[in-house]
Amino acid sequence: MNEIMKMEHVSLAFSTVKALDDLNFTVQAGEIFGFLGPSGAGKTTTMKLLSGQLRQDEGIVQVFQKNVKNNDHDLYAQIGILSDNSGLYDNLSVYENLKLFADIRHLKKANIKEVLAKLKLEGQEKKLVKKLSRGMRQRLMFATVILHKPRLLFLDEPTSALDPATSEAVHKIILDLNKEGTTIFLTTHNMEEADKLCDRVAFLHQGHIMECGNPQELKVKYANNCICIQTNQGDMIQTTKDKKELISILSKMDNEILTIHSVEPDLKTIFLNITGREL
Ligand SMILES: Nc1ncnc2c1ncn2[C@@H]1O[C@H](COP(=O)(O)OP(=O)(O)O)[C@@H](O)[C@H]1O
Ligand SMILES: [Mg+2]
Repeated sequence: MNEIMKMEHVSLAFSTVKALDDLNFTVQAGEIFGFLGPSGAGKTTTMKLLSGQLRQDEGIVQVFQKNVKNNDHDLYAQIGILSDNSGLYDNLSVYENLKLFADIRHLKKANIKEVLAKLKLEGQEKKLVKKLSRGMRQRLMFATVILHKPRLLFLDEPTSALDPATSEAVHKIILDLNKEGTTIFLTTHNMEEADKLCDRVAFLHQGHIMECGNPQELKVKYANNCICIQTNQGDMIQTTKDKKELISILSKMDNEILTIHSVEPDLKTIFLNITGREL
């Protein structure tokens, strides 16, 4: 496979706060790569390094097999970045917003119609952005970042403020873009989303990658260590096979136990086991 991004021994501090600590990973062309971690883990900072918006203190950051430089126009022509500050203009229409983004990128023949169709926004061209529903707004933000057909998309928590139905629509957009060949770097703290969308995930904790792999393979890798206890009150408690921990949980339990069995853990549980932190 073709390597599209790479970080080697990357560290970055904001004055006394060490935001990233010896990051190492690669992303292959065609992957949906998930960068998972709780708030403050360093997800956005990593994305900013990869997209040339910040410089690392140490290490190597490569995209398309070239070192990333600040404000690199060659790079910007090939990537799209969706973050919560992907500013739309509220008092302009859907079409005017897209035209503006096309002009900023000097796209002579922007496929505004094609992009509108792709994001199911046909017929909404004249609507003012301030009148859009949240879901439509998010779809329009997507439209603005794929107008120039980027090979690589950075999505910073694309569903964090969305309801389940809108999240579902966004997931479909992500999968469709990926099917067309777009490589996607996605940050999220939603482990179910990561499990559903990502070919590989990295678990980020305090600026360091604690684990990285295919979700299914990670579940198998950590399966042996996971026990599920179900009580008559409907509780489902997951713990590790660590005897002391298991005994401690059992001894504190008031409810009657219905079942105890080993299970395939979900990504949330694996993250908690590795980092000791909830998402
Ligand atoms: N511009 C900045 N100045 C100072 N500290 C920052 C800055 N940006 C991020 N940080 C700090 O770096 C750490 C990682 O932040 P961030 O990458 O935004 O995390 P995430 O996106 O995972 O929530 C946090 O401790 C945050 O407070
Ligand atoms: Mg962030």
